[in-house]
This record gives sequence, C-alpha cells and structure tokens, in this order.
Amino acid sequence: MAASELYTKAARVWIPDAEDVWKSAELIKDYKNGDASLQLLLEDGTNLELKLDPKTNNLPYLRNPDILVGENDLTALSYLHEPAVLHNLKVRFTDSKLIYTYCGIVLVAINPYESLPIYGSDIINAYSGQNMGDMDPHIFAVAEEAYKQMARDERNQSIIVSGESGAGKTVSAKYAMRYFATVSGSASDANIEEKVLASNPIMEAIGNAKTTRNDNSSRFGKYIEIGFDSRYRIIGANMRTYLLEKSRVVFQADEERNYHIFYQLCAAAHLPEFKNLRLSSANDFLYTRQGRSPVIDGVDDAKELCTTRHAFTLLGINESSQVGLFQVLAAILHLGNVEIKERDSDSSLIPPNNRHLTAFCELVGVAYQDMSQWLCHRKLKTATETYIKPLPRLQATNARDALSKHVYAKLFNWIVEHVNKALVTNVKQHSFIGVLDIYGFETFEINSFEQFCINYANEKLQQQFNMHVFKLEQEEYMREQIPWTLIDFYDNQPCINLIEAKMGVLDLLDEECRMPKGSDDSWAQKLYNTHLKTCSLFEKPRMSNRAFIIQHFADKVEYQCDGFLEKNKDTVNEEQINVMKASKFDLLVQLFHDEEKVTSPTGPVPGTGGRTRLSIKPDKSRDSSCKEHKKTVGCQFRNSLQMLMGTLNATTPHYVRCIKPNDFKLAFSFDPKRAVQQLRACGVLETIRISAAGFPSRWTYQEFFSRYRVLMKQKDVLPDMKLTCKNVLEKLVEDQDKYQFGKTKIFFRAGQVAYLEKLRADKLRVACIRIQKTIRCWLARKKFLRKRGAAITIQRFTRGYQARCLAKFMRRTQAATIIQKYQRMCVEKKRYQQKQAAALAMQTILRAYQARQLYQTLLREHKAVLIQKHIRGWLARCWYKRCLEAIVYLQCCIRRMRAKRELKKLKIEARSVEHFKKLNKGMENKIMQLQRKIDEQNKDHRLISEKLVGLESSYATETERMRAELSRLRGVEEDARSRANQVSSLLEELEKLKKELSVTQQEKKSIEDWAHTYRNQMEKVLSELKDENGSLKKEKDDLNRRIQEQSQQMTEKMARAIAQETHQLETELNEERSRYQNLLSDHLHLEEKYDDLKEEMARSSNMSKPGHRRTDSTHSSNESEYTYNSEYAELEEGSRAGEDMTRGIDTSLTLKLQKRVTELEQEKQSLRNELENKEEQFQRARARDDAEFRKARGAELEYESLKRQELESENKKLRHDLSEMRRSLLADAATGAGAPGSPAYKVLLDQLNASCEELEVRKEEVLILRSQLVSQKEAMHHKVRMVLHLLTFQGDVINLICAQPAFVLLTQQFVAKLHQKQTGSRNGLKCEA
Ligand SMILES: Nc1ncnc2c1ncn2[C@@H]1O[C@H](COP(=O)(O)OP(=O)(O)O)[C@@H](O)[C@H]1O
Ligand SMILES: [Mg+2]
Repeated sequence: MAASELYTKAARVWIPDAEDVWKSAELIKDYKNGDASLQLLLEDGTNLELKLDPKTNNLPYLRNPDILVGENDLTALSYLHEPAVLHNLKVRFTDSKLIYTYCGIVLVAINPYESLPIYGSDIINAYSGQNMGDMDPHIFAVAEEAYKQMARDERNQSIIVSGESGAGKTVSAKYAMRYFATVSGSASDANIEEKVLASNPIMEAIGNAKTTRNDNSSRFGKYIEIGFDSRYRIIGANMRTYLLEKSRVVFQADEERNYHIFYQLCAAAHLPEFKNLRLSSANDFLYTRQGRSPVIDGVDDAKELCTTRHAFTLLGINESSQVGLFQVLAAILHLGNVEIKERDSDSSLIPPNNRHLTAFCELVGVAYQDMSQWLCHRKLKTATETYIKPLPRLQATNARDALSKHVYAKLFNWIVEHVNKALVTNVKQHSFIGVLDIYGFETFEINSFEQFCINYANEKLQQQFNMHVFKLEQEEYMREQIPWTLIDFYDNQPCINLIEAKMGVLDLLDEECRMPKGSDDSWAQKLYNTHLKTCSLFEKPRMSNRAFIIQHFADKVEYQCDGFLEKNKDTVNEEQINVMKASKFDLLVQLFHDEEKVTSPTGPVPGTGGRTRLSIKPDKSRDSSCKEHKKTVGCQFRNSLQMLMGTLNATTPHYVRCIKPNDFKLAFSFDPKRAVQQLRACGVLETIRISAAGFPSRWTYQEFFSRYRVLMKQKDVLPDMKLTCKNVLEKLVEDQDKYQFGKTKIFFRAGQVAYLEKLRADKLRVACIRIQKTIRCWLARKKFLRKRGAAITIQRFTRGYQARCLAKFMRRTQAATIIQKYQRMCVEKKRYQQKQAAALAMQTILRAYQARQLYQTLLREHKAVLIQKHIRGWLARCWYKRCLEAIVYLQCCIRRMRAKRELKKLKIEARSVEHFKKLNKGMENKIMQLQRKIDEQNKDHRLISEKLVGLESSYATETERMRAELSRLRGVEEDARSRANQVSSLLEELEKLKKELSVTQQEKKSIEDWAHTYRNQMEKVLSELKDENGSLKKEKDDLNRRIQEQSQQMTEKMARAIAQETHQLETELNEERSRYQNLLSDHLHLEEKYDDLKEEMARSSNMSKPGHRRTDSTHSSNESEYTYNSEYAELEEGSRAGEDMTRGIDTSLTLKLQKRVTELEQEKQSLRNELENKEEQFQRARARDDAEFRKARGAELEYESLKRQELESENKKLRHDLSEMRRSLLADAATGAGAPGSPAYKVLLDQLNASCEELEVRKEEVLILRSQLVSQKEAMHHKVRMVLHLLTFQGDVINLICAQPAFVLLTQQFVAKLHQKQTGSRNGLKCEA
C-alpha cells in the first residue's frame, strides 16, 4: 500500500512539537511520492509546510481514526506509535478521568493525585473472578489475572510495578496486596492478610520519606512475595528490599525530609515512655532539620507513630523491642548532633561531656570515652604494625555520618527480618505472587551512583520484560505456525553487558575500589579506555573527563563519576563498629552480631522459608572474588539483582507502569513532555515498538470475515471461510509481506487494519450516505410536512386569534365609541343643559333685567308721563288759568266796558218808564212758573211718603219671616247632630253584622267542606257508574264490532253472490250475445239471400218492363248521379225489405232477448234494493242498539236517582223516627221524669231540635247546592267579590261620613240602603246556601 494512498487530503497526522511533543495536523493536499513537503493545516487554523527529510523521507505519523481513541488497550490502535499512545492516554486521563490503560500486557497507571472511588471492596468483588478483557483496565484486573493464572497454571506470579518516584508504584503495589488479601482470605485465624497489610505502615515509616517529588517516597526497592496454600489462601509473606537510600539518614535536600520514623518520634517526644529518649522537636536535630520542612501537609506524625506501633505489635515486635528500636533511632538523631570540633588541620576532637554524645552512648549502651575516641581517630593497619591516626574534622564528621547510616541500615534490615519472621508460616507454601515495587528509570541533571544502580536495575527489568514479551509473541507465532524470524525486537543485552560483564562498568569500579590509590578520575579514564572504542552504548561527554554517558534503553544518561568509589565501597570505621558491638544494649548487639554473616546491608534476608524452590545461585566465580574482599555495594546490588531476575524469570510476570502526569502533584493534569519521557523510560513504547515490528493486529478468520464481509462481493464468498479470507485479502492488500495467514488467525502488520478499516469505512460511508440521504430526505419531508402542518395550524390559530383580537378590538372600539358617544353625549348634554340653564338663567336675568329696565323705563316714562301730565296739566292749568284770567280779565274788561256802556245805556233807559213796565211783566211770569213748580213738587212728595210707608210695612213682615226661617234652620242643625250620633250606633250595628257575616261564612265553609266530601262521594259513585258505563260501552263496542263483522261478512257474501250472479249473468249475456251474433250473421245471410232473390226478381221484372228506364231519360245528363241515387234508393228499399224479412223472422227472439235483458236488469235492481234494505236493516239495528244503550244508560241514571230518592226517603223516614222518638222522649221526660227541675235537659232538647231543624234546613240547602254545584263556585266568587266591594265601599262611606258631617242626611240614606243591601245579600247567600 503506497503512502500516497494514506496521505491523502484530510488525512490527519502527528507532527513533532516542542511544547506538546506531538501536535495534530490535517493534510490539505494529497501527498505524491517524491514530494519534498506536506501542506498541513494545524488545529489552531494555521497552515504549515512540513519539510520532509530528503535522506530518510520519513512521513509524519498518521492519526488513528477517532473511533479508536480512548481504547482500553493501546495495542488495539491501528497506528502504533508514540503520538497515538500519548494521545490515547491523554484523552483517557484528562477527558474520561480513566487512570488505567492496557498496553498489551502492561497496565499503564497514571497518578491522578486525587483519591478515586475505585478501590472499594465492592470494586474488588466486581473484579474478582472476571476476565481481564471483560472489565475496564484496573490494578485489580492485573491482580486478578495473576491470582487466576497462579491457580490455573500452578505457577508463581509476579507483578512488577515500576515508575518514577511519585508515580504511584507503592500505592499500586498496596492495592494489589489489598486485592489478594481481600480475595483470598487467610487460611488460619492468624489474620495473615492483615499482617501482610500491616507491613506497609512499618516499611513506610522506616523506608519512606518526603521528597520534592513525593510526600511518601519509598527510598528502597521492595519485592514482597505473598505465599498461598494449595487452596490459594494467603498463608504468609516474605519481603526483600533493595538499595535503601542510606544517605537520607544524614542528609536531606531542601524541601525534603528524613525517614518518617524520625519525625514520628520527635512528634511523640512528650509521651512518658519516650522521656528517656531525650528527644525534642525535629528542628533540634541536624538529621531532621536540613530539608527545613519537618511537616507534611495533612499528615499528623504523632498519629502515624501510633499506626506504626500498632503495626509493630501486630507483627509480633513487642513493646520492649519497639522501645529498643526507638532508642537506636533516637541515638542516631543524637549522634547527628554530636559536634566534632577542629583541633588542627589534621585532627579533630569532641568536647568532653557532649550532651548529645552522652545521650547517644547512654541510649545505645556504649562507653562514652571509646565512642568519642573512635569518632575522631582511626586505626591504620599495615602488615607489620597498627597505629592510630587522628582524623581531620571533615573526615571525622563523615565517619560519624557513615556510622549513623550504618546503624540505620542495620536497624532497617533487622526490622525487615522481623517483619518477615512475623509473616512466615509453617504451612507448606504452594505458590506465591510477588509484588515488585521498584524505582523506575531515572535521569537527572547530575546522575550519580544511585541513579546508575537504579538504571542498571531497570535495564535488567526491561530485558526481562522484552524477553517475556518476545517469548509470548514467539509462542503465539509458533502456535499459528508463522515464521517468528519475521520479528525484529530490541535487545538490551549489550547495555547490560556494558554494566555488569567482566571489565564492565561495575567490574572496573570494584577494581578501582580495591586499588589502594584508586580514585573516581582514574576509574573514569579506565572506563574511557575500555569502552569508548568497543561499545557504541558508551560515550564520553565532550566537555568533561569525569563523566560518562550510557545509552540506556530509555534514554542516554550522563553519570558524574564523583563519589562512585566512595559509595561503592560504603566503608565504616571498624573501631566504631567494635565499640558498638561491645554495647550492653541487647538490640545493638543483635544488630551487629551477624555483621559477618550478612552478605548485603540491604540485600535479601536469608533463612526465610518458602523461597527454597528458587534455585538462583549467584555467579560462583564472581561471588568468590567478592568474598575475597569486602563486598562492594555494586557487587551486592548486582547479586541481589541477579537473584531477583532469577525469581522473576521463574514466575509469570505482570507489568504495571506508573506514570507521573505532572511534577506539581496537580490532580488530573497531563504534561505530555513528562509523560513521553516516562513512557519511553518504562518501556511502554518499547512494547509498542515490538508490537508494531511484528504483526500487532491479529484477527481470527471468523472475525475478519464478519468484519470485512462488507468488502467482499457475493461471488467472493466461498464455503471455505479461510480461503475466502485469503482471496479477499490478497485482492485488498497487494503487498504479501503486510500479512500472514496463521492457523486460526490472520496476522497484520501495523497500519494494515487501519487501511482495511479505511476501506471498510469508505464503503460503509458510501452506503451510509445513501441511507442518510434517503432517511434525511424522508425525515426532512416529514419534518417539512409537520412544520407545514404546524405552520398552518399556527397560522390558523394565529389568524383566528388575530381575527378574534380584531373582532374584540373592533367590538371594544365600537363599544368604546358608543361609550364615548354616550359619555360625550352625556357630557355635551350636561354641558348643553348647563349652558342652556345658564343661558336661560342669563336670559331670565337678562330679560328680567331688560324687563326691569323696560319696566324702569316704562315706569320712568310713565312717571315722566305722569309728571309730564301733571306738569302739562299744571302748565295747561297755569296757562289756562292765565288764559282764563286773561280772558276773564279781558271779559271783565270788555264786560266792564260793555257794562259801562250798558250802564250808560241803562242809565239812559232807566231813565225811561217803558223799561220799568216791561220788567214788571217778566217778573210776574216768573212767579207763576215757580208757583206751578211748587205744586208739582208737593204732589211728588206726597206720593213718595206713601210709598215709604208701604215699604216699611213690607219690611217688617219680611224681617219677621226671616227670623222664623232662622229659628227653623237652627232646629234642623240640632237634628243633624242627633242623626250623627245615630250613625255611630249604626256603625256598631254594622260591625255586629260583619261578625255575623263571618260566622255565616264559616258555616258556609263547613257546608262547603261537607259538600265537597259529598261531591267526592258522588264523584266516586259517578266514577263507578262511569266504569260501568265504560264496560257497557266496551260491550257495545264488542257488539258493534260483531255486527260490523257480520255485516261485513254479509256484504262480502252478498257481494260474492252478486259477483257470482253477475258473472253468471255475464256469461249468460255473452252466450246470448253470441247467439245474437249468430242470429245476426244468419240474418245477414238471409238478407243476402233476400237481396239475391230481389235481384233475381228485379231482373225478371226488368226483363218484363224494359222501357221503364227510358222514362227517366230526361235526366240523362245526370245519369250517373241518378243511377246511383236510384240504385241507392233501391238498395235501401231492398235492405228495408230484407230487414223487414229478418225482423219478421227474429222479432220474437229479440223480444225474448230484450225481455231477458229487462228481467236481468230488474233482477239487478231487486238485488240492489235488497242490498239497500239489508243496509237499512243494519242501520236500523245499529240505531236500535244505540237507543237500547241510551235507554239502558237512561235507565241507569234513573235507577240512580231512584236510589237516591229512596235513600232520601229512607233518611226522611229515619229523621221522622228520630223526631218521633224525641217527641216521645220529651213526653216521657215531661210525664215520666216529671222533672220540672231539669231545665238544662229542656235546653238541650231545644238545642237538639234546633239543630235538627237546622240540619233539615241545611240538608235542603245541600240538595239545592248539589243541584247548583257547578255554578256555585262562580257565583261564590262573584258574591265574595261583591262583599269585598261592599266592604270597601262601606269604608269609603264611613270615611265620607266622618269627613263630611254636612251630608248626614245622605249618610242616613246610604246606611239604610246598605243595610238593605246587606240583608239582601245575606238573604241571597242564604237562599243560595
Ligand atoms: N491510584 C492512586 N490514586 C490516588 N492517588 C494516588 C494513586 N497513586 C498515587 N497516588 C498519589 O501519589 C502519591 C505518590 O504515590 P506513591 O505510590 O507513593 O509513589 P511512588 O511509590 O511511585 O513513589 C501518593 O501519596 C498518592 O497521594
Ligand atoms: Mg514508592
């Protein structure tokens, strides 16, 4: 498969990155073979042109399909390379919070730095008995697998936990141990599993310390074998430790601590049992204060000590031993505080009575003098003599520290030994599972002897791992019969050889150590000389002559040679040891007792049972060479490692690789750089590499067939599945090297599955797209339809709503308009009315004002007129007066003038006699006139006086009359008053009458009741009668029906008879008719004959009278017509003659026939008559029936009345008897009793009589009532109304009377009338009653 096929556009690749190690990118252009660069698009959107190395022309790694990301097993990834592994781990860890992942047989555990809820007993139970692949990756799954394999294969197992410091090795090992303890349970009651677990706090207290990387870092390697019996129950355990970091006892870097136990003791210094230890705060001791961090967050050392002591007790280390241990530990602390002073440059001294040295000596039971002596001096032995050499201060201090370290190491071993003793068992061990918790590959800035040892150990472990993986692979290939030579795998034997072989690094170091003047530098030179040319894995740094580089499997590590020799020798002042050996303190003696026996200060403890099966013997030659001299640390370590390897190789290993995700102990934070570093170091990537180098992907034929069935055509599928797979695969993958056909499986090289997957995915994608297309279309259409429906519905509702809103709005608007209208109208009306009122008021006021003005003006005018009038009058009068006066004056003047003239004249006259005479005569006339006048007046006077007298007399009479009238009127008034009094009495009477009326009404009511009951009875009787009537009616109906039926039958019969008869007659008639027809035909025949005869006769007559025709010749012009006429006439005649003949022949018959017809008609008539008669009869019968019925009914009624009458008469009779009896009784009483003193009796009798009479009357009344029963009600109503009317009328009248005393007379009349009316009405009522 060409690269160009995979590196197509949109293919995703990993490109190296400085920060993230690997960065994802996408190809934006297809790669063609020979291209110098790739066009990439990074995830952040930037474009990148990746230059390809022209030499190697290596293409970047391809990314796995997303579906594979997050796989439980990294080897399941199709592209197996570092970025894929890293990415998968990262995704699982950060996104899914999954800390465990399989990488083939390796469990990768990433430290979460957060306690997770995945270690409970329920989880243990869940994993117990399960297959590894069935469950999520977990340390429990690995433990379960080991446990299961132990049982299944009867083989010892080991779990190898490795990783950096702080990666979680110890925790993982602890969980594995807990798993075994929980799952297996102990065989005895000794709670061995508890003890196994209890070893942890002890080992942690003495072997763990706080480092910058891990607050609880184990400073030693540990291999613990958990022993099981034949039933796979825990029976015991054994522990081996490796490379305890002794230097920590005397020195700690910044932020680090010494072993926990020191701090635990210092924290509990105040306890009474620790009083003699003379301890105080950890800050008071040099060995505990150098790191300047005596406290760990969240850890209470005092509490931890309790746990430790409890664990000690549990493991059988008694209180006194514990106190001894604590004494030694306290002594170490005190020893550290012993200050060695400089005496001169070559010698040193300890001031006498040093408090700490005293405490030390007392605690370990050694002589102060000896101790202070040998702390500052040393014994030098030569072949001939020994002499004591003083030590310079620095050397003395180093010797002191060496002693401290030595004592601590002894103590550590002693504890391990005792723990093992406590965990050992007598029961025969059947098998074991070892858990190795050992530091992983380390590389620092400056790497020293410790790192060298650690990396050496890891190199060995990696070799073991590789061998194991390789072996497994090989086995699989063998099984599948595939040539295993195809696998190329990394072997780190050269590196191991470089370290441990003869003339190897360690060998040279030992040799250098044995040299009297050996130094680190000379050793380095030796190394360079030996290896630089021969071994490619060994390098010399360019800038340094005191360092060397070893190419380990994981990385290149540069080691500084400084201190290698010293550390390898690990020498202690022998005199000091002797002093210690001479101790009175039991424990110390024990510690130093087997100084010679112990092969390694931190090596395996011999004599622990249960390991006897392991027959790993160290290299004898080397061992003996070591024995010759004191064994160096390197030698010891190599031996113990050899032994460990032997053990591991004899077991089935299980690998747990712990990864520290970041250096800051941050929870779930993934630093890809650090992770890659560790992945490389712990061999995970190597596993991957091995997997990738071979055929990492394996499919059984069945799996392959079912998975890639989609890639096969129908014709490809053969009955033999293997053959099918082979054919198909050959077609799909051209390169034959990319796969191998095994017995049951097909083996693929890395990436082939991805390629096949790609093909499959492509095919599926095409199919999928087609399905999607169809479904999407269908869905879209459905959605569209639904949407449209919904839209329509929404529209409908919305429109409805809008319409309703509009209608509502319009209605409201209209209502508002109306309201407004009315309101406005109201307002306007009010305003108008106000205005009108105001206008009116104004008008009124104005008009009034105007009127007043007018009036005023008028008045004024009037007044003016008046004034004017008066003035004018006055003026006129004035004027007139003046005029008059003037006139008078003028007159006066004139008259005076005239008088003067007259006077003059008269004077002249008077002077004449005549004048006197005349005057006299006039005077006489005048007197006569006056005399006449007086006479007349006297006459009048007399007449008037006479009249006056007459009038006076008439006046007197009139007054007299008037007076009489007055007196009469007064009398009348009095009378009226008395009448008024009478009215009141009448009113009383009226009241009485009313009462009477009510009484009578009550009576009437009772009578009515009685009448009602009577009526009911009558009704009952009536109903009975009705019933009877009904039954009779029914009978009648029955009869009627019967009659009807009969009549019907009759009519039917008659009709039938008639029909028959008519039918008969008709047939007869028909017969007659046919006969008649025959006759007619005969007749015609005869006529014909007759005609013939006639013709013949005519012919004969014609022949006798030939000129006959000529007589008619005059009419020749009309011959034809004539002839015809004549012929016709002749024919007629002839026929008539014929007729006559036939008539003559058939008249009798026709007559007969006619007679018959008339007879028949008569018969018919008679039948009809009969029918009518019958009907009449029937009618009559019915009428008769009716009459009878009516009669019967009348009779019934009569019978009823008769009965009633009878009853009444009987009643009368009875009453009569009663009265008779009473009378007789009365008579008896009058005679027999002779009780004149019994008036009561009489009264009673009277009453009885009266009541009887009344009863009689009532009865009569009742009789009358009954007759009027129906009409009574109406009448009653009418009467009652009348009475009420009357009463109201009375009230009115009374009021009138009271109000108008003047109408007394009228009242009287009314009252009288009323009385009459009342009596009348009562009578009427009575009568009615
Ligand atoms: N599985 C885990 N779950 C939670 N915390 C863990 C887990 N593994 C490790 N740790 C944390 O990391 C710390 C260091 O683990 P430890 O096993 O002591 O490391 P190592 O032994 O590799 O030096 C522990 O104290 C603990 O807090
Ligand atoms: Mg640890």
